[in-house]
Amino acid sequence: MLRIAVLTSGGDSPGMNAAIRAVVRKAIYHGLEVIGIQRGFSGFIEADMGPMNLGSVADIIHRGGTVLRTARSEEFKTYPGRTKAYANVARFGIQGLVIIGGDGSFRGARVFHDEFNVPVLGVPGTIDNDITGTDYSIGFDTAVNTVVEAINKIRDTATSHERTFILEVMGRESGCIALTAGLAGGAESIIIPELEFNIDEVCEKLYRGYKRGKLHSIIIVAEGAAGGMEISKVISEKTGLETKVTILGHLQRGGTPSAFDRILASRLGARAVEMLMSGHHKHMVGMMAGEIVTCPLETAFAGKQPIDMDVYNLAAVLSI
Ligand code: F6P
Repeated sequence: MLRIAVLTSGGDSPGMNAAIRAVVRKAIYHGLEVIGIQRGFSGFIEADMGPMNLGSVADIIHRGGTVLRTARSEEFKTYPGRTKAYANVARFGIQGLVIIGGDGSFRGARVFHDEFNVPVLGVPGTIDNDITGTDYSIGFDTAVNTVVEAINKIRDTATSHERTFILEVMGRESGCIALTAGLAGGAESIIIPELEFNIDEVCEKLYRGYKRGKLHSIIIVAEGAAGGMEISKVISEKTGLETKVTILGHLQRGGTPSAFDRILASRLGARAVEMLMSGHHKHMVGMMAGEIVTCPLETAFAGKQPIDMDVYNLAAVLSI
């Protein structure tokens, strides 16, 4: 193998740059050439790509976003679109492709591999942490820390005004960010799409808290479960308490990556290059129980990452 390419795809996540850096430097260390593809599969189709060297990834390990840019390409979902991308594989002499992204990107990569037999290696990068085959995806830890920081700040004003706050967080169909940040931030209730919730129980808990002198309450809602505005309206109607809503939105996707995400990204990016060099054609790298592991690419989107019921139950007990 002489030349590989790397791209980032789907929603960006903090730590993607550290993963790009690891792929480029590990590949060059082993004597490979690296092509950087801009704007994900869109740039792949449009030949928006060029060589990368050691300097191309200097000074990016601490930066959020992705220096390669990213996109969600509709055209790559079509056979003609993928055919154009394949033409660029031949044109640029690409012998392997590292894709840093989420399950949607891996689905596209799998189809591309099956149609054109181009070796593809997936590196999980999404704040949602909804990919099976890895305990953590790159960016999740940073996003959780961002949410916890927001909870801390909201808590100050919530206490001063004796208010209830509803914080809506990202995660698509996953409640992983909500659950993890909810436990770390000491939220009173956590509403996630994986579990049925009873709004009356949420209200009763709030009411009990206020009766015993609690000055504020914070409820975390995962976007996949319900809208923060909707929950706020129901709670204030049922309890008469003053509720405020904060939708954290895309600020959860930005910011300097945590040390955990940088290390995860560095280890996964490097292992992806090793996998390509050793002839693995359709795999994803991940981390389970602290070890770097690999699995067939399909595993990444074969099922839904289950939520940790121990964490959920503990959060409920501690916020009684
Ligand atoms: O997958 C990452 C994510 O941030 C989700 O949590 C969210 O639902 C979605 O992307 C938002 O997508 P966009 O940036 O296209 O609005």
